[in-house]
Amino acid sequence: MEILIVNIKELVLVDTAGRTLVSGADMAEMETLPHAFLYIKDGLIADFGEMHSEKGKQLIEGFTGELIDATDRLVYPTFCDSHTHLVYPASREIEYIDKIKGLSYEQIAERGGGILNSAKLMQLASEQELYESAMQRLNEIISMGTGAVEIKSGYGLTLESELKMLRVIRKLKESSPLTIKATFLGAHSIPLEYRGKQEEYVDLVINEMIPMVASEELADYIDVFCDKGFFTVEDTDRILNAGMKYGLRPKIHANELDFSGGIQVGVKYNALSVDHLEYTGDKEIEALKGSETMPVILPGAAFFLNMPYAPARKMIDAGLPVAFASDFNPGSSPSGNMQLILSMASILYRLTPEEGIYSTTLNGAYAMDLSEELGSISIGKKANVFITQPMPGIAYMPYYYGINKVEKVILNGKIEYIKK
Ligand code: NIG
Ligand code: FE
Repeated sequence: MEILIVNIKELVLVDTAGRTLVSGADMAEMETLPHAFLYIKDGLIADFGEMHSEKGKQLIEGFTGELIDATDRLVYPTFCDSHTHLVYPASREIEYIDKIKGLSYEQIAERGGGILNSAKLMQLASEQELYESAMQRLNEIISMGTGAVEIKSGYGLTLESELKMLRVIRKLKESSPLTIKATFLGAHSIPLEYRGKQEEYVDLVINEMIPMVASEELADYIDVFCDKGFFTVEDTDRILNAGMKYGLRPKIHANELDFSGGIQVGVKYNALSVDHLEYTGDKEIEALKGSETMPVILPGAAFFLNMPYAPARKMIDAGLPVAFASDFNPGSSPSGNMQLILSMASILYRLTPEEGIYSTTLNGAYAMDLSEELGSISIGKKANVFITQPMPGIAYMPYYYGINKVEKVILNGKIEYIKK
């Protein structure tokens, strides 16, 4: 199957240098190609260039595949959403009302709500139900321009339930056109029966869960919620050390509720990413400098929980890369809309449109170890792109927030969504 997109007003995030991430001041510079074509073959980006170039003219002349006219429209690489919990048994709008009334995330967790609420319902949910509801969410995010997504376990909190969640993620990987990575998050919360004996739960994660997850090859990465009221640096150290022995690279929840030491322990274990980062100061920024760890910011959760915003601007100004992800989950960020995340990156965190686009595409791909194959318009990468509605230029994407501005989504070289 071949697709030729012609008359593209602007082809966004062209990368011919083969960069796997973009940091600091480089994030402000982005190559785009005006009046372009994009040629897709065998699921990959086969070529692109200017419409009126010799190459362009020749391609169009003899073309017999699917021709798409993108007059007035922009073409972007699809979003790479590197942090979600989108396999879950039920929504949690009851807590949302508690939150409006003023209860904090920690108070809700202390009352046995929050993650534990999802864990209780997870015990009862069948794999088929979980699969079907998650598949619906995947189709929803495809329609908004996402092409790759990471999904965590962590609403199981028992061996059986964690394995159930990860098996559902495996089935989603096999059947969805999205590129999916799976993360084992057994240490997401301390189950009520382990209160006061947290170490025993950590032992369970280390001695029973990790070996089973690894033997069934159910996870690409390992995660720990290293924060105040959840897992300590010592717990995290032990879990990451155990995961490392099975080749599970960390992507961890860190510094959402306090200066937890999560960033430092993540860097110590060469985490692929450390995520949330509301509490990030100079020491944390220093720890990230020179590391291979991507700082990932989750504006959906900060917005929904009324938390302070992570200092993304300061990180970029200090020369770091950043990625932005949705954190799609029923408790703290019930949305997987990466267009909204891009707008928040600009409006709330002061990223320019170029910085925001890198953060939600190439740098997001890096945070899933996918940036060799996704995240930019580069020859040989997977043909995961979207075509926008007519728009004046790239800044319109974060500027005009709140509606779906994506008209067509192509994944693996196949059209997967057309706006009605
Ligand atoms: O990333 N912070 C920890 N975990 C999730 C919340 C999950 C939930 O509340 O269900 C998060 O925000
Ligand atoms: Fe999360």
